Amino acid sequence: MVNYLTVQQIGLQLADQKRPLTDRFRALFTLRNLGGHEAIDCISKCFGDPSALLKHELAYCLGQMQDEYAIPGLIRVLRDKTQEPMVRHEAGEALGAIGSADVLDILREYAKDPQTEVAETCQLAVQRIEWLKEKCSQENHHLSSNPYKSVDPAPPSLSLDTETLQNTLLDESRPLFDRYRAMFSLRNKGDNESVLALARGLKCTSALFRHEIAYVLGQMQHEAAIPQLIENLEDLKENPMVRHECAEALGSIAKDQCLTALEKYSQDQERVVKESCVVALDMFNHEQSNEFQYADSLVKIKET
Ligand SMILES: [Fe+2]
Ligand SMILES: [Fe+2]
Repeated sequence: MVNYLTVQQIGLQLADQKRPLTDRFRALFTLRNLGGHEAIDCISKCFGDPSALLKHELAYCLGQMQDEYAIPGLIRVLRDKTQEPMVRHEAGEALGAIGSADVLDILREYAKDPQTEVAETCQLAVQRIEWLKEKCSQENHHLSSNPYKSVDPAPPSLSLDTETLQNTLLDESRPLFDRYRAMFSLRNKGDNESVLALARGLKCTSALFRHEIAYVLGQMQHEAAIPQLIENLEDLKENPMVRHECAEALGSIAKDQCLTALEKYSQDQERVVKESCVVALDMFNHEQSNEFQYADSLVKIKET
């Protein structure tokens, strides 16, 4: 007999601090996929949690759901200076992802936040919403498509030339929005050369930029970026938000060297880095065991 859980029951799993973080992440992803006001309420209720990793993922999921019902909760998180900068950043980015022009004034206010990653995120979110209003309809059919279906903080560039894109990506005198656009074009191209161009971005000045580079390298799951991702993860002076994103990217590439690096940092001093490594390893093991079960059931079907 199959037991179906209600949205409320999944919400309780998400909120249960005694459960392993991996289970709670799974509950979160289920709520994101279900969508609707009840699911958004369950997610928004958990911003008092002690794990910044979990809270930033709550905000990320609310942004990806693109439902305006989540806006008031996200504004509260962006305004709350007791929240970690990484969580406030993700709330700002989520408001940009939802794309409503109603939040432009609030985003402009926090585009001057003393926390650089929050300020830069809100500047990007303002530009994304302005782009949606003014340029999206003319540019849209000329843009490369995103194979990962994520709602990104900026659209891809109009250019498709790798060298031009790399120059824009790495030019620190260019506006961050243009450099993000180059980043997403290179990601959409997805070849070896594009991966290497992106990995060079892991040495740029802005921590926000470096963490986004690590994020897209995780989406691409391309082996060519493994050494560069490990280098930033191993750098204890690197911003924890960037180290966290490198750990997650290595978890999704999941080759042997990646798993070794994750095991090494699963006891890291920085809670967010440690939890990222533990969750990435758990997710990997879970997928492996599911594949075994899947393979096992195929054998059984064949036998009968
Ligand atoms: Fe982020
Ligand atoms: Fe993240």
